[in-house]
Amino acid sequence: MIKILKPIIVVFFFAGWILNGTAQEKIPYVEELLKKMTLEEKIGQLNLVTPGGGIATGAVVSENVESKIKAGQVGALFGISGPEKIKIAQDFAVKETRLGIPLFFGSDVIHGYRTTFPIPLATSCSWDMELLKKSAEIAALEATADGINWNFSPMVDIARDPRWGRIAEGAGEDPYLGSAIAKAMVTGYQGDDISNSNTMIACVKHFALYGASEAGRDYNTVDMSKIKMYNQYLPPYKAAIDAGVASVMSSFNDIDGVPATGNKWLLTDLLRNEWQFNGFVVSDYTSLSEMIAHGLGNLQEVSSLALNAGLDMDMVSEGFLETLKKSVEEGTVSEEAITIACRRILEAKYKLGLFDDPYRYIDKKRPNKDILTKEHRDFARKIASRSFVLLKNDNAILPLKKNTSIALIGPLANDKSNMLGTWAPTGDYKLSIPILEGFKNVASNAKIVYAKGANITDDKELSKKINVFGKKAEIDSRSSDEMLQEALSVAEKSDVIVAVVGEASEMSGEASSMTNISIPETQKRLIKELVKTGKPVVLVLMSGRPLVIEEEMEMPISILQVWHPGVEAGNAVADVIFGNYNPSGKLTTTWPRNIGQIPIYHSMKNTGRPEVNGYEKFKTNYLDVSNTPLLPFGYGLSYTTFDYSDIKIDKPEIAQDGSVTISVTVTNTGNYDGEEVVQLYLRDVVRSITPPKRQLKGFKKVFLKKGESKVISLTLNPDDLKFYDSSLEFVAEPGQFEVFVGTNSDATLKTSFELKP
Ligand code: NOJ
Repeated sequence: MIKILKPIIVVFFFAGWILNGTAQEKIPYVEELLKKMTLEEKIGQLNLVTPGGGIATGAVVSENVESKIKAGQVGALFGISGPEKIKIAQDFAVKETRLGIPLFFGSDVIHGYRTTFPIPLATSCSWDMELLKKSAEIAALEATADGINWNFSPMVDIARDPRWGRIAEGAGEDPYLGSAIAKAMVTGYQGDDISNSNTMIACVKHFALYGASEAGRDYNTVDMSKIKMYNQYLPPYKAAIDAGVASVMSSFNDIDGVPATGNKWLLTDLLRNEWQFNGFVVSDYTSLSEMIAHGLGNLQEVSSLALNAGLDMDMVSEGFLETLKKSVEEGTVSEEAITIACRRILEAKYKLGLFDDPYRYIDKKRPNKDILTKEHRDFARKIASRSFVLLKNDNAILPLKKNTSIALIGPLANDKSNMLGTWAPTGDYKLSIPILEGFKNVASNAKIVYAKGANITDDKELSKKINVFGKKAEIDSRSSDEMLQEALSVAEKSDVIVAVVGEASEMSGEASSMTNISIPETQKRLIKELVKTGKPVVLVLMSGRPLVIEEEMEMPISILQVWHPGVEAGNAVADVIFGNYNPSGKLTTTWPRNIGQIPIYHSMKNTGRPEVNGYEKFKTNYLDVSNTPLLPFGYGLSYTTFDYSDIKIDKPEIAQDGSVTISVTVTNTGNYDGEEVVQLYLRDVVRSITPPKRQLKGFKKVFLKKGESKVISLTLNPDDLKFYDSSLEFVAEPGQFEVFVGTNSDATLKTSFELKP
């Protein structure tokens, strides 16, 4: 069957035809195939289903998958893996349908495939694009070895509300850093050639603005001005598209009253006409049929709305499958619109090389060879240690000596089930290294005694919800007092206390929003009692979001934020605690003092009544808490110290197309070699729409030996000075710009320049 479909003419011809305003290349092979297809077969290609059976990533699963594939009613499948299973499904499509069109196979490979890396919010704190790209390359290598060739990643939603559980899945609050990471991930997954059998199609999600759901509640409404969208929220999606991402996933939320999945402005005017995207758009899981609950009509109506808006593939709703033929008959959808969507899906299959060989990603020898190799696990350990953020190091207690006597305490200290973090359906928690084991591996001469000390939470209702994918936060049969007493007696006998505390993995992630983001009460009590012993205390803090930890920050302790560190958790944490690696992570979200400060982020505006020196009547502030965050964006300590001096700028003024280079001397003034993320923030002093107080516009990660100084240069290019004005034109307006360079977003070292008209 495949042979018949082989292209007679192998060369592309570039018949620039206009499709929704977008000039595209026609692929002759696909055009020939389209000519042979019936309307039903075209509609079949638009249907994405999942048979279930693995870890659920949505509330319902598809039925009769096998018979639907054989009937030509399925374009792609997700939620299955492994060459054997994928071969069976591919056989159904290739050998048992009229045209033998192969399927492609999707999956959520969010932070590593089987070798699970730290959650994305964590890896973003590395500010290391090479490392991030490599993590995507490894994920692609492993996933394709298991037959997957389409990845529902990267998630690039800007998130400024830590109550939102899915903040864990993205790169934090900033569009500049978020764009750099989007590019690194897309190029890592897709490589130079998508048809290579070790690269896969990426899918940037969730388009758009999903991270701005009101009140941090998942799936909630988004209402945002276009100016804010263009300047703050859209850049990372755009960066992914500019990097060549082959697919886009529409989000659950509505925008201007129309759910993204049926939003023509979003999917056609912006995405295709303005941004020239020519891949395909898939809905999120049942987000098409969810438009019924949104209040936009019945399945028939919302399906035609979505198709006409520019959606190409329907994930699990089967709205396209069930209704589009009738809509064509009734004239609400044109056959041409269906052909256009089908063409985009077939083109993706073509680019994957599936028409040459539908079995090119199916090789029984590959899983053993390519998955969970020593090299990949070593990399997981490395990227984890680069993701940790040292929040506090009282009395420079860290790093610990490798022969110390340590009380290792806490509900996450000897745990495997929470190490991978949220959205690790392709990983296996049983393979993860608990912190206790890592400590023993790295500091074999240390005397380590362990006690659980507390439950993750004592709240039975909450623990039930967290345990939805297995036991993550079990409540111990002992009472809290008994556990605490055990911990205190262990602590008494040791020189240092290391308490591994925080959130279970399912306390963040999808449908895991929280209105209380403090460390759970029972663990707070444990921490306070441990501090009372007077012994040095180190908190190893795990979470999938920024936490409210004002009380803990005031304690005389050290805090290492390790997020959910992935499969090599214990080894990586031990590497940093014992000084094999000097921490260099920097926060990619602002940490609030309390919930009431949310939203709080570094690029906020001045207002007409800025606060200058603390509270004053008739200024923008709160009566009960300062405006400053607990921890600013870009914050993170090292075992050494860095001094910034001698800021210079290569010219005092530039023309519209000019660049300007800022240099600064960074000196390692402490006792350890270390890495530092040098950050540049820009303030446009006067412009036609109110500017943010400062915005990240450059960064460089540098290594300095102790005592070493380096001159670090950062260049601002014309686009770095631009913003979307009230007509949504991307412009730079003449005038004064201030530049701040330093170790976090509170950087004070300053210079300025003028942009000439
Ligand atoms: C729903 C999630 O929102 C999305 O991120 C994911 O890719 C799909 N489910 C598929 O699992």
